[in-house]
Amino acid sequence: MRVQLLSLGASLLPLAAAQFTGNGNSTNATSTGPDEDGKYWIYGEGISAAFIPYGASISNLLIKDQYGIERDIVAGFDNASYYAIDRQHPHFGGVPGRYANRIKNSSFEIDGETYHIKPNENPTKDHPDGVDTLHGGPNGWDWRNFTVASRSNNSITFSFVDPDGEQGFPGEVVSYITYTLGNMTWDFKMVAISTTKKTPIMLSSHTYWNLDGFANNDTQSVLNHTFYLPYSGQRVGVDNILIPTGDILANQQGSVNDFWSAPKQIGTDFQKEELKNNCGFNCTGYDTCWLVNRQQDGPYDWRAEDGFVARLQSPWSGIQLDIYSDQEAFQMYSCNGQNGSMALKKTQGLFDNKDFPRTIPKYGCVVLEVEDWIDAINQPEWQRGSKQIYGPGDDPYVLQASYKFSINATKTS
Ligand SMILES: *[C@@H]1O[C@H](CO)[C@@H](O)[C@H](O)[C@H]1NC(C)=O
Ligand SMILES: *[C@@H]1O[C@H](CO)[C@@H](O)[C@H](O)[C@H]1NC(C)=O
Ligand SMILES: *[C@@H]1O[C@H](CO)[C@@H](O)[C@H](O)[C@H]1NC(C)=O
Ligand SMILES: *[C@@H]1O[C@H](CO)[C@@H](O)[C@H](O)[C@H]1NC(C)=O
Ligand SMILES: *[C@@H]1O[C@H](CO)[C@@H](O)[C@H](O)[C@H]1NC(C)=O
Ligand SMILES: *[C@@H]1O[C@H](CO)[C@@H](O)[C@H](O)[C@H]1NC(C)=O
Ligand SMILES: *[C@@H]1O[C@H](CO)[C@@H](O)[C@H](O)[C@H]1NC(C)=O
Ligand SMILES: *[C@@H]1O[C@H](CO)[C@@H](O)[C@H](O)[C@H]1NC(C)=O
Ligand SMILES: *[C@@H]1O[C@H](CO)[C@@H](O)[C@H](O)[C@H]1NC(C)=O
Ligand SMILES: *[C@@H]1O[C@H](CO)[C@@H](O)[C@H](O)[C@H]1NC(C)=O
Ligand SMILES: *[C@@H]1O[C@H](CO)[C@@H](O)[C@H](O)[C@H]1NC(C)=O
Ligand SMILES: *[C@@H]1O[C@H](CO)[C@@H](O)[C@H](O)[C@H]1NC(C)=O
Repeated sequence: MRVQLLSLGASLLPLAAAQFTGNGNSTNATSTGPDEDGKYWIYGEGISAAFIPYGASISNLLIKDQYGIERDIVAGFDNASYYAIDRQHPHFGGVPGRYANRIKNSSFEIDGETYHIKPNENPTKDHPDGVDTLHGGPNGWDWRNFTVASRSNNSITFSFVDPDGEQGFPGEVVSYITYTLGNMTWDFKMVAISTTKKTPIMLSSHTYWNLDGFANNDTQSVLNHTFYLPYSGQRVGVDNILIPTGDILANQQGSVNDFWSAPKQIGTDFQKEELKNNCGFNCTGYDTCWLVNRQQDGPYDWRAEDGFVARLQSPWSGIQLDIYSDQEAFQMYSCNGQNGSMALKKTQGLFDNKDFPRTIPKYGCVVLEVEDWIDAINQPEWQRGSKQIYGPGDDPYVLQASYKFSINATKTS
């Protein structure tokens, strides 16, 4: 498998390089190499997007708002080369892997054997590197460069080989990440194959959204974006450093974590006492894994019209994002950790307005992640081993999603 992948990559790479045309103009659909900023552009009807090998990340997504003005609605950096230099590393638009979100105590057990992986979060005096692992470790997938395996006008596929033992994980994993643009749609398919040993795999897309392109002249925050999770009456209970406790909690109607009974603005409950510590110690906001419960209504087609698992909408731009996915959990993070230290891109924000600095403020964005139940490898009673542990000869890990954009200028409360 590895040999095949490498030879495929090697045969395709010179082709991409030979076709390098270096044109950064998003309306120019003829260039096939990266532009002068190191970005690979692809095009759909009413939508275009740029991707970079670093973390197989999306760096730009352009779409017109209700006034016909083009907005860049994802956070990122202007130059692909800066992603590897930036030390804050907010996982901008990348693929967290090989295991997204947190792993309790940086360890897990497979077939009676305990594995210890590299910690990278919540350092203490006794554990200077941290007490848990976030997004695959200090050299997780979104710290590394993928290979451009193939590319067309509307699609790009990245390939990646994660060696046996990397970050302490057992076995080699080979992965393909394909992004495709359609008629106001962004689809992705992530496939990963464990080739040598049983190992945990859980991927996601860690994209930061601001549906106003950070150009809203009333507010820099996303607290007025409306959010809806129609299948998510339950969520994963966590401790004060966001490690799952094993408990599945109810999102009672009207409670701060209720986004299922009706759409609601993200900021609706920010003054409520109940939201304090909702995203960990001393944190007001969301960094929550909701379950997506659909089986009870019978067999379903995740692509079915109106079957979206999440909807995000901004009344200011009128842009609406409906997310369809085959995954059974959904994470939303309300950018509680942003503090104005990340710069906007040249395609974003308001110029000539001192009240709106060209940086991302606290609550200035929202991360939406289709995923499986977080840290299920440490909660055997959830019985999700078949969704999270993969060995040689098993069916591949597959994640699919379709992000559909439309204009919905409805004002909501
Ligand atoms: C697109 O970019 C290529 C390479 O820079 C250039 O030759 C071509 O004229 C451009 N096409 C348009 C329509 O701008
Ligand atoms: C991009 O290309 C289009 C089509 O060739 C052209 O009309 C437009 O002016 C270009 N924009 C920039 C910023 O170069
Ligand atoms: C992007 O970074 C690369 C490498 O540092 C540099 O060669 C290139 O000029 C940069 N592009 C722009 C437009 O600054
Ligand atoms: C690329 O796709 C866009 C959108 O579908 C289309 O307008 C454009 O003509 C295509 N370009 C090429 C070279 O096929
Ligand atoms: C990844 O590629 C970028 C260019 O986009 C380069 O600046 C960086 O050094 C590479 N990083 C690694 C870890 O290879
Ligand atoms: C956490 O991992 C360490 C080794 O890294 C181990 O000694 C300890 O028992 C583990 N703690 C728990 C609660 O599992
Ligand atoms: C794109 O979708 C819109 C609305 O569904 C439709 O009217 C239009 O014909 C579609 N365009 C193409 C090229 O399929
Ligand atoms: C704010 O933006 C909206 C939408 O683009 C525009 O209609 C309005 O004139 C702007 N207001 C100010 C004060 O610039
Ligand atoms: C925007 O959000 C703030 C904070 O939640 C709220 O007070 C305000 O009413 C909202 N504005 C609109 C126009 O919905
Ligand atoms: C908790 O937050 C409050 C208010 O922001 C701050 O004053 C306090 O220092 C924080 N406590 C800790 C332990 O971080
Ligand atoms: C903002 O957050 C970053 C990352 O946590 C930190 O390095 C920086 O010191 C913070 N800046 C301010 C002004 O708090
Ligand atoms: C527009 O958004 C509102 C509020 O989220 C929702 O009730 C309505 O169904 C949406 N309309 C469409 C056409 O999606």
